[in-house]
Amino acid sequence: MRTPICESLGVDLPIFGFSHCRDVVAAISRAGGFGVLGAALFSPEQLELELAWIDEHVAGRPYGLDVVIPATYANASVAAENQTANYLAAIPQKHWEFVQETLQHLEVPELPDEVARPVLEPGWNPELGRMHFEVGLGHPIRMIVNALGTPPAEVVERAHAKGMLVGGLAGKPAHAVKQVEGGVDVIIAQGTEAGGHTGEIATMVLTPQVVRAVGPDIPVLAAGGIASGEQLAAAIALGAQGGWLGSVWLTTHESDVDPAVKQRYLAASSDATVRTKENSGKPCRGLRTPWRDAWLATESPGTLPMPLQGLLTLEAKDRIKRARRVDLMHMSVGQVVGQMNHDRSVADVMFDLTSGFVAAADRLAGIVHSEE
Ligand SMILES: Cc1cc2nc3c(=O)[nH]c(=O)nc-3n(C[C@H](O)[C@H](O)[C@H](O)COP(=O)(O)O)c2cc1C
Repeated sequence: MRTPICESLGVDLPIFGFSHCRDVVAAISRAGGFGVLGAALFSPEQLELELAWIDEHVAGRPYGLDVVIPATYANASVAAENQTANYLAAIPQKHWEFVQETLQHLEVPELPDEVARPVLEPGWNPELGRMHFEVGLGHPIRMIVNALGTPPAEVVERAHAKGMLVGGLAGKPAHAVKQVEGGVDVIIAQGTEAGGHTGEIATMVLTPQVVRAVGPDIPVLAAGGIASGEQLAAAIALGAQGGWLGSVWLTTHESDVDPAVKQRYLAASSDATVRTKENSGKPCRGLRTPWRDAWLATESPGTLPMPLQGLLTLEAKDRIKRARRVDLMHMSVGQVVGQMNHDRSVADVMFDLTSGFVAAADRLAGIVHSEE
């Protein structure tokens, strides 16, 4: 099952696993795949601790880091100390009112007086992404991946100087080409079925187009809609050198996802997700909730661009979390959620992916053989 990128990275299996949970990342790499830690939710100090932990628990196997340096971000040039105030001033009053009315309508209690309000900081901030990158440079990371656009040239150069490969997620063939022109070595072609921020084109349609657009020298990984060995085999058949999986790990034993949210994932079918912008301002796939529906209703003032939408909804998300309103929480996941029906270990998922892949490959070989 080794493809050329497995040789470049020193892994046994073409299975790339994205997770925000260090235990999941280390378990994927220990099982012969390539675990990638998502940095987005950590402060730089916390990320340092997470990576040090992975270094100790990965048994010398290769792993990667995913940072978020968005290529488009409202007013990115404004000086850092003025940014939050400027962003807050740019949010229309009708949007603040809509948030309060919706929370009231959904019967989400106010934060108690004694509870500290969340610090209003813009999320998915390019500066934070760069700080995550700096932390990553101090660890034996084999591939650094950027989400939401072409990474800055200086980031690519410094990663290459450290001997790291640079990867980038792309939802359109033209975006993949732009990233390769910007020095990216590996493209993750992410289809609309994927959990998290995602584009409009399905993996089955996107992957071969990206493979063709970037040419034979650039390895492509297919992401979105892969949670079984058959789907992994389909990705390879489409020209990808591996599968990049995010959702399937959310319900594993090792995952630190809130147990109540895990239960929602385990019970959900593949038509339970929607792709909406109310969380960050960019389209993001996750479980449908009444909070998401409210932003799509005719009374909604519409969503704002990143990072305004994230700032606008920060306290609301805190209220929802504190009230334990699992029915309203933001639960990013892809359409494969309908295949995530029982709680397994990461090693079991890896075993099932591998054996399912072999069975699918045998089936295809048998068809070819029988026609000879
Ligand atoms: C809960 C969740 C959070 C995600 N966060 C990020 C992220 O911070 N950075 C990133 O590059 N991709 C992120 N993704 C997307 C994954 O990297 C991956 O492309 C996607 O999950 C693949 O599709 P799948 O969900 O069908 O497996 C996230 C996905 C999920 C499910």
